Amino acid sequence: MMVVKSFAECRAAAHGSVGLVPTLGFVHEGHLDLMARCRRENDLVISSLFVNPLQFNEAADFDAYPRKFERDARLIEAAGVDVLFAPSLDEMYPLEPVTRVVVGGITDAMEGAHRPGHFEGVATVVTKLLAGIQPDRAYFGKKDAQQLAMVTRLTMDLSLPTEIVPCSTVREADGLALSSRNVRLPTGCRDDAVLLSKGLFAAADLVATGERSSAVLEQTVTEGLGGMPAEYVTLADRVTAEPLIDLDRPAFLAGAIEVGGVRLIDNVWLDPDGTSDRGSFLDRTSILYEGDD
Ligand code: PAJ
Repeated sequence: MMVVKSFAECRAAAHGSVGLVPTLGFVHEGHLDLMARCRRENDLVISSLFVNPLQFNEAADFDAYPRKFERDARLIEAAGVDVLFAPSLDEMYPLEPVTRVVVGGITDAMEGAHRPGHFEGVATVVTKLLAGIQPDRAYFGKKDAQQLAMVTRLTMDLSLPTEIVPCSTVREADGLALSSRNVRLPTGCRDDAVLLSKGLFAAADLVATGERSSAVLEQTVTEGLGGMPAEYVTLADRVTAEPLIDLDRPAFLAGAIEVGGVRLIDNVWLDPDGTSDRGSFLDRTSILYEGDD
């Protein structure tokens, strides 16, 4: 695996079809799943690792974001990635970027409402990655369903020639969606953290038996939290991310909670025919919790 720091080096490595997996690092099996799929579907696999300050609406969250480059590089190489693009802050933002990408509508509710500036930061860096690397395909997780909807739309609106490929959520054995932030969960908070996915699965079970009302589905999740407040629980259109009254089109049911000072998001994908996509489950402890070697 080549480790490069510039967009020019990424473009110089290109041959055949090029797939890109953007990450913030501190990789887990969710990221590795995206990379494995990218490997199967492309001649050259590039993964980017950049903790993008523009998308952290709180400086403390940016500072606390877990970083471990050697660990990540080893895991990313083992996933079959050819080129690891790990730009410096200067390479990504030689000057404070005055050109920002704002995606309207899709970013209004849920994460957009609770994290001011977050999506502008994501849209700006993703646009730079797609423009600077020019991949044929880029892989994004359904775990961040609103982000995925936004990225899909921005490539369409800006005529970027990259195909956006949605990938299913990977979960820990107990249902907790894998997130780099899980390592920051204090011991004792785990049971609370799992309640969000439990509630989302309970709602998906209701959909399978005919329930279509967003109020009922959202309430199922909220009640499952056992008094813990949710930042939001919302049934949203999968394409526009607009809140829905009823499950009458492809949708996702998403929620955000804060547990032990760690903000967690999760969702299930729901369809009007009663089917759902909850993702896949690990059968062993995640590599997130492995010690250093
Ligand atoms: P990050 O949180 O590192 O996630 C990188 C990619 O992995 C995203 O597409 C995300 O949706 C996906 N992902 C995260 N957890 C997952 C899981 N449990 N199962 C499957 N896929 C999962 O999302 C970002 O970084 C950034 O916003 C980024 C797109 C890199 C822009 O900076």
